[in-house]
Amino acid sequence: MKNILVTGGAGFIGSNFVKYVLKKYDYTIINYDKLTYAGNLENLTDIERHPNYKFVKGDICDKDMVEKTLKDYSIDTIVNFAAESHVDRSILGSREFIVTNILGTQTLLDVAKSIGIEKYLQVSTDEVYGSLPEDKKEILFTEKTPITTNSPYSASKASADLLCNSYYHTHKFPVLITRCSNNYGPYQFPEKLIPLMIAKALDGQKLPVYGDGKNVRDWLYVEDHCSAICEVLHKGKIGEVYNIGGNNEWYNIDIVKIILKLLGKTEEQITYVKDRPGHDRRYAIDSTKIQTELGWKPAYQFEGGIEATIKWYVENENWWRKVMSGEYQKYYEKNYSTKMV
Ligand code: NAD
Ligand code: DAU
Repeated sequence: MKNILVTGGAGFIGSNFVKYVLKKYDYTIINYDKLTYAGNLENLTDIERHPNYKFVKGDICDKDMVEKTLKDYSIDTIVNFAAESHVDRSILGSREFIVTNILGTQTLLDVAKSIGIEKYLQVSTDEVYGSLPEDKKEILFTEKTPITTNSPYSASKASADLLCNSYYHTHKFPVLITRCSNNYGPYQFPEKLIPLMIAKALDGQKLPVYGDGKNVRDWLYVEDHCSAICEVLHKGKIGEVYNIGGNNEWYNIDIVKIILKLLGKTEEQITYVKDRPGHDRRYAIDSTKIQTELGWKPAYQFEGGIEATIKWYVENENWWRKVMSGEYQKYYEKNYSTKMV
């Protein structure tokens, strides 16, 4: 493994991954990103001149551009982060999700298969497993949990996983799949729960909690996701799926209360709004396989991770104010105007 194509490397997890790899290893990274509303080169200013880093603006659905990039940079490994990633947006309109998440993955697989590469890692999600019962805490998502998709986003991610699996079985194409739980940390677009609530709290605005606030998510600090992907790239068995998670389940409402408390704000800012349609109740990952077979474990405790994240948003107000202007305002109005009760 020498030359890695990281797709979606200007997004939240992708940009953290690019920096993590450049800091820890001697690989060359080609960051291939379309720069949608979620892609931001400001996430990468500290490493943009790194000798082992190059940025290429491109769409994963563009076969010719993907092919040229793989050839120009003698790519031997692909890590595919590029995706439409926000569930609420997939409810407002699913087309982009189908195009990028499914057709984009198919394009990458086809081009990489025809050129020949060493490894292709598909960054997937625990959402492909559907929702867990709230009252049976002993039940977790394992790699054998059947695929059950409840949002257009998760349906598109699961479709991509199934395609990857089919290329492995049919073409012996060297695929690895990771399925991670909810990430949090610096550079997360403030349409997702944690950064949205931090920004709203700092601005003295209402914090919109969906439904009863008792949906459960399993939170992992973004750098732990990055280290897990590296372990899978280095030691994972081709054709296998690896779940990634931190055994860290929280009710949404408790996350919101922690944020308010750490920022010295009162719970009066909380407002309950109409629920997300088809809202999955509980996600929780069993990461026994990656822990026992590959020796990975998370390095961050939630208490430290959430404090570091809040500190980052407090210190980088310009970053989130800029990304929350323009197109974002229209999205926010569209998503939340029908939810306010
Ligand atoms: P993000 O929305 O922050 O970033 C997505 C990136 O992909 C952006 O830089 C965007 O410009 C780029 N992109 C979108 N369409 C593209 C296209 N057609 N061609 C090239 N680039 C394109 O997403 P994220 O939260 O960083 O998630 C990254 C990946 O990890 C996604 O595949 C997501 O499904 C998966 N994932 C996310 C989480 C999470 O909690 N955020 C958890 C598990 C898995
Ligand atoms: O589980 C992994 C997935 O986590 C990733 O695959 C997705 O890309 C990522 O977006 C995330 O999906 P969620 O839907 O779980 O994340 P989100 O931050 O949108 O919402 C987290 C929870 O908070 C969810 O139960 C909905 C709730 N929520 C969210 C928003 C934006 C609210 O209550 N209010 C809000 O305004």
